[in-house]
Amino acid sequence: MSPRHFLTLKDLSSDELKQLLSRAIELKRMHREGTEYQPLKNKVLAMIFEKSSTRTRVSFEAGMAQFGGHALFLSPRDTQLGRGEPVEDSARVISSMVDAVMIRTFDHGMVETFAANSSVPVINALTDDFHPCQLLADMQTYLEHRGSIEGKKVVWVGDGNNMCQSYINAAALLNFKLVVACPKGYEPTPEILAENADYVTVVNSAQEAAKDADLVVTDVFASMGQEDEQDLRLKDFAGFQVNQAIMDLAKPDALFMHCLPAHRGEEVTSEVIDHPDSVVWDEAENRLHAQKALLEFLICN
Ligand code: CP
Ligand code: NVA
Repeated sequence: MSPRHFLTLKDLSSDELKQLLSRAIELKRMHREGTEYQPLKNKVLAMIFEKSSTRTRVSFEAGMAQFGGHALFLSPRDTQLGRGEPVEDSARVISSMVDAVMIRTFDHGMVETFAANSSVPVINALTDDFHPCQLLADMQTYLEHRGSIEGKKVVWVGDGNNMCQSYINAAALLNFKLVVACPKGYEPTPEILAENADYVTVVNSAQEAAKDADLVVTDVFASMGQEDEQDLRLKDFAGFQVNQAIMDLAKPDALFMHCLPAHRGEEVTSEVIDHPDSVVWDEAENRLHAQKALLEFLICN
């Protein structure tokens, strides 16, 4: 039987996603109470990082340790993958020795190829197209602070990037209304917009989008791999900063989220990120709890 993978949020059904979020909240409570729970004793997670990371690496590695298992950090600098060993061959070999594989890379096709040749579950820990693990944490955070997100208005301000595209998938699975505000030329792909047309609209004004929002979210203007475009993007994204004037257009109890790392003064002001309505620190911590729920779901089931 082929294993379950988590390459995009849509690898889960709506019910599975909701159950996973409840489980994440339960695991967080158990962790805070100091309950020892080690369902992954002797299990190993291989973590392939072809891009930098703080939150993703720490949360997966800590989560595996807390569950009684082990995590292996694999960088292309030190593995044969980095010297051109085919992804298909690497997947076959690595998956024969571990219980799950987590991958952060550029091309989304790489994780698909790896998964197609893997005998164990593969988790997408960020590609150029999607960042589904972050959405587990974001949706857990909204649920904890405000209850169900169904029917709410979520506003994405900035680049139509991997995070934005994962928000589109979340809107479809959890039935919320997503408004994406981005400059012309930086929209999410036409395919993902067409596939989720009932849940997402795109506008070219942050002010227009922010009105009556329940949640405002942003991310860096230049993602990993786009460093050469930083100066151009700073110009193109003028007017797409989340500042207090934007938050004032949202509902009075609107939350602010950012997956971090943030470029304070670019896509968001310090005033917004440090405001009581900002839940970015809970959002970051929830990477740990949400991914523990994911690991349990993929490895124990
Ligand atoms: N949000 C996030 O994925 O952070 P890292 O790049 O630090 O893992
Ligand atoms: N969009 C950002 C997210 C970082 C967690 C990037 O891909 O660099």
